[in-house]
Amino acid sequence: MLPLTMELEFFITSWLLLLVFLFSTFLLFRGKKYPDRFPPGSLGLPVIGQSLSLLKALKADKVDKWFQEGITKHGPIWKASLFGYPTVVLHGPAANKFIYTCDGNILNNSQPPSLSRIFGSKNLSELTGNDHKRVRAALVSFLKLEVLKQYVTKVDAEIQHNLQTHWHGKQDVQAQPVIKTLTFNVICSLLFGIERGPRRDRLMPLFQDMIEGVLAIPVNFPFTKFNRGIVARRKLLPMIIDLIHEKREALQEQKQEANHQKDLISSLLSIHDDDGSPTMSDEEIVDNIIVVMVAGYDTTSSLLTFLVKLLANNESVYSNVVREQEEISKSKAVGEALTWEDLTKMKYLWRVASEMLRINPPINLSFRRATQDIEYGGYTILKGWQVLLSQSMTHMNNDIFKDPTMFDPTRFEKHAPQPPPFSFVAFGAGPRMCPGIELAKMETLAMMHRLVTQFTWELLKKDESFKRNPMPNFDQGLLVRIKPIKAIFISSQASL
Ligand code: HEM
Repeated sequence: MLPLTMELEFFITSWLLLLVFLFSTFLLFRGKKYPDRFPPGSLGLPVIGQSLSLLKALKADKVDKWFQEGITKHGPIWKASLFGYPTVVLHGPAANKFIYTCDGNILNNSQPPSLSRIFGSKNLSELTGNDHKRVRAALVSFLKLEVLKQYVTKVDAEIQHNLQTHWHGKQDVQAQPVIKTLTFNVICSLLFGIERGPRRDRLMPLFQDMIEGVLAIPVNFPFTKFNRGIVARRKLLPMIIDLIHEKREALQEQKQEANHQKDLISSLLSIHDDDGSPTMSDEEIVDNIIVVMVAGYDTTSSLLTFLVKLLANNESVYSNVVREQEEISKSKAVGEALTWEDLTKMKYLWRVASEMLRINPPINLSFRRATQDIEYGGYTILKGWQVLLSQSMTHMNNDIFKDPTMFDPTRFEKHAPQPPPFSFVAFGAGPRMCPGIELAKMETLAMMHRLVTQFTWELLKKDESFKRNPMPNFDQGLLVRIKPIKAIFISSQASL
């Protein structure tokens, strides 16, 4: 527990912040003279606006309906007040293009100030312009395909260990939390170089508190989720700093050869500018490790959980997936680890995953903030205003994807008609497009391969629903009854 003085300090600071926030929002709402070409709609109640109705729609996974109601009432571009900010609400391929390609100096990535208290102010989503380019390039230098290819066996080992610990010998499994443990472990191993053991075990609850804090209402009172997130960051900081120091020493001592398998932290520490100075400061490394963990954990696990549900419900997709995966198994020795070449053969499985991302994208909203007055679609978006983009509404547009509610992986076949640019945006687009796409793909293909070749399963609740907060979370963690297909033989890597 925190000492009393700290709790008191939190309490007073929270109230002061709340007052400052309410006052500045009042000024923002009242002090502006709106131009003529101003989007229709209503700002609703001061401060609260339409936030509660959006949150309710998110929980019920009815965001598209929420947007549609606004469009029917006001037209394609309209205004609302969300999370304390006047907001212009946009959707459609043209809006996706506008948001994803707009100069970062005109339209910032808008994160509520509360988020940077958990993620840190130097995390990628807070950065703009050259700083964003520099830090992103450093992250991508590790997350790019050519580098990640060599880590397939490592990812496979984590998967085998996850199956051994949480699936084999069990009858009923809550798929989603168990898959989240897997995505957490993959990131720990690959990106942070923290192998299984007490250190990793200490990190897991702290990261979980931070993730819950990021997604919670930002009220910083003792014992709120937001407060627990901030406290978790404070506890995590010295642990990550120790890790950075250890890795820096190891790099200096061992003078690792260029092709030595590194982790993301070591890779970031190895990058230097032309003048020899480190490309990223330690503070930037800390904040970006945290943001990568949060960005990569819930998203990939959401996709995998939806795939587990799909294969239990859709016989024809299931048998096609199994056929493809068994072909790959047949070409390998018993217990042999997966390789990059194996993953390249999983073309049908990736089409199924892409179609799942179209129908159930883990991220379906993006926020930005105008840093100057902007003209868009005949309207003015004022400096300081927030822009909310419902990017994935294009996924359900009948003119773009025929019969959009039908699950049809053939849409992603090589020779199928391509949707117009900026219509399939599960990983975003432009300079802020997801840099973790290759890792997400690798984890998804390898995990589904291992699952379908080792188990069959059925859903214990046929229509188990999920809520978005904002990532999809199944009400009972997606309960499945599993049966092993055959005894497993773990690759030598998996038992490391
Ligand atoms: C199925 C899995 C994933 C999906 C659907 C997904 C989706 C997205 C989307 C839509 C964005 C852009 C958001 C915006 O423009 O507002 C994004 C950004 C980002 N993603 Fe992912 N992501 C996934 C996995 C990952 C993984 C595994 C990592 C890390 C290894 C990761 C790291 C990031 C980061 C750091 C950003 C911010 C990029 C920037 O601001 O330049 N993501 N992701």
